[in-house]
Parts: sequence; C-alpha cells; structure tokens
Amino acid sequence: MNRFRPKSARVLAAVAATLVLAGAAQAGEVEVLHYWTSGGEAKAAAALKATLQAKGHTWRDFAVAGGGGDSAMTVLKSRVVSGNAPAAAQIKGPSLQEWAAEGVLANIDDVAKAEKWDSLLPRQISDVMKYKGGYIAAPLNVHRVNWLYANPEVLKKAGAKVPATWDEFFATAEALKKAGVIPLAHGGQNWQDFTVFESVALGLGGVDFYRKALVQLDPAALNGATMEKVLATFRRIKGYTDKNAPGRDWNLATGMVVKGEAGMQLMGDWAKGEFVAAGKQPGKDFICVAAPGSAGAFTFNVDSLAMFKVKGDDKVKAQKDLAAAVMSPQFQETFNLNKGSIPVRLNMDLTKFDDCAKASAKDFAASAQGGTLVPSIAHGMAVPAAVEGAIKDVVSQFWNNDRMTPKEAMTRLAAAAKAS
Ligand code: GAL
Repeated sequence: MNRFRPKSARVLAAVAATLVLAGAAQAGEVEVLHYWTSGGEAKAAAALKATLQAKGHTWRDFAVAGGGGDSAMTVLKSRVVSGNAPAAAQIKGPSLQEWAAEGVLANIDDVAKAEKWDSLLPRQISDVMKYKGGYIAAPLNVHRVNWLYANPEVLKKAGAKVPATWDEFFATAEALKKAGVIPLAHGGQNWQDFTVFESVALGLGGVDFYRKALVQLDPAALNGATMEKVLATFRRIKGYTDKNAPGRDWNLATGMVVKGEAGMQLMGDWAKGEFVAAGKQPGKDFICVAAPGSAGAFTFNVDSLAMFKVKGDDKVKAQKDLAAAVMSPQFQETFNLNKGSIPVRLNMDLTKFDDCAKASAKDFAASAQGGTLVPSIAHGMAVPAAVEGAIKDVVSQFWNNDRMTPKEAMTRLAAAAKAS
C-alpha cells in the first residue's frame, strides 16, 4: 500500500495541478461595454456580473453613462476602430447586422445550438440575433416601451384619473397643473423625446400607421394628415412638462414621479426598474398602464450582448460561458426582476414577477399573435442607425423650437428618412 501511495501522491498532485491549470486556463476575463448606470440598471448589470463570476470568470466592467446608449455607441466605435474592442457590448436591433458586416463579431452558434436557442426564442427576436444565419449576439430581455407610469396618490389629490386615451391624458394633465404638480416628468434628450413621440404615433395613428411611417418610412405617411395630428399632439404634451426638463436624465424624471413631484412619465419599463429599486410597489405606489391609445399594441425593445472576436482560449471560453449564462432561466429571472423588463426566453415561470411584468408578458404574446407587436424606433429596433439618428434629431428640433410648424417638421422627417 505504502509503495503505492508515494507514486499515487505524485500522480494525484500532477492531476490536481493539471486540473487547476485547466481551470485557470479556462477561467477568463470578459470585458463588457454597456450603458446600464441608473439604480435599477446597475442592479441588473450586477446580476450579470455575478452570474459570470459564479462560472469562475472575471467581469471587466466598461460602463458608459448616458441613457439610450448614444454615448456608449460613440465610445464603442472609437475602441473598435483603434483595435481595442471589448469582448462583449450592449448592441441592439439592426445595428447588430451593421457591426457583423464589418467582420468584428464572433459567431456563437455552437453555444446557441447547445443551448437550443432557436426553440427558446420568438422567431422575430432570434432572427435579429443572427448574421447570415449564425448567432452573433445573446438576447437578455424584452422591454416594452409604450408605457405610462403614474403616481396614484398625486392623481387622487388632483382629482384626476389614470388616462387611457390622449383626450383623457390632457384632462388629467390639466387637473395636475391646476393642483400645482408637474403633470409629466420628462427629460429633454432626443431619445426621450422620440420615446414619447413614438407612443403618440402609435396611440393616435394606430399600428398600421406606425409601421408605415416609422418602420417603412413611407413618404406619404410621413407627410400625411395623421402625422400632422401626431406632431400637433406631441407639441401639446410639452406644455405639461417643466422648465427644467431640457437635458434631464430619464431616471431623474422617474424619480420625480416616485417622490410625487410629478404625476406621470411616458417611458419604457426600465423606468419600472427604478420604481422597484426605490422600494415602490406597482398598483400601490405607482401605476403602470399602456401609453394612451396603445393598449392593444406593444412596442418592443430587446437588449442584447454582441460578442466581439477575441484572442485566447480562456477569453473565448469566458465569452461563450457569458452567452450561455445570459439565456439561462436563472439569469433571465434575476436580471429581468431588477431591470423592469420581461424574460426573452419563452415559457419562463413568472411567479416572482409583479403585475406590470405579467401584464407585459401577456400583452407581448397577444400582440405577437394579433399582429400588433411593433419595434421601438427610439431604441434601435427597426431602422438603420443613421436614419434613426436623423429622424430623432428632427423630432427633438420640433419639440424644442415652438416656431417650427408640423408641416415643416414633416418635410424634414421625410428628408431624414433618406439619411444613410
Ligand atoms: C434603452 C436600453 C434599456 C435602457 C434604456 C435607458 O435603449 O435598451 O436597457 O437602458 O435605454 O438607458
């Protein structure tokens, strides 16, 4: 027996060393560039970090502040151009195709196949995650953008009700104004302006108009009577925001509703992540309803992590583990409970999710079924980045310049739709 032990001890030591080396070799670092910096967003990003670290890998955080992600995309471009791409980055929608066409993204089909993503994702979303049929990104969630959040106590004090139509919205806003409360908390940044604008277009014009004008960029729809009405209504909303709105970050606007300084906010459900991070309960401290006139429709925004080509087995392994982790049921639950969105993975158990999330999941399924599921323009789900930026700028110019007429704005919108 003794004779055996010394040799076996050496063998065991050698095996152990190999294992550690293998483990060490397999443990890698993933640098993730993203723009999740607000309270709820940071909590969700922390869940992603913890998931990766649980697999023995290192998460290197590269957060770029600025809601909506324009600054993050500018930083990302300069890093890629200078040959210093991160391992993963928060890139969404058609931009994924634009980046993939540059040849900088890694194919993660092996992970997707092993994890059966095609059967776990709605086709409309799995298609967006692919380039030439191969997965290049991992989806994290489904955000709904056409929400209105309200502070029930503030509305009650003003004798106002939660609006379901735009006429009701203006009645409520007028009552809040009379009660000396800021009716609509808003942040004057082009993506926030457009988030409000697209909800007005959807609520007033309907799904077909939304698709024609903002997805297909049809000149007649961009220049027609419905668009004129949408722009006039959009401008009227501005009268119910406060003078400090220009430049305000979205989460500060949400904070105003949380604190009762304002009655309502029109924003995607990352705002719900802020209410929850502030310990507020849906139905009690805040109300979530579809943006006026858009109850039967759903504007989707899917966050995804694009994987850049990296060198080194350990880095590739860590990147693939991150991709697999992102679509795992545990992560899909933890991340979305904090983020305010719903899991993108189908057939998830939503027991732990609140009523806003359950309503979102029900409406997502119903709108996908009923043909009223539309991509958010403000959040990069539909048109090429250049067009998105151009039409966002026109809508913000119209919002900020009271002398620009709806007709002038429509002419500029039609021109911006041709941007390349
Ligand atoms: C969206 C993004 C969300 C949220 C929001 C505010 O574009 O998809 O995850 O972060 O911006 O920053």
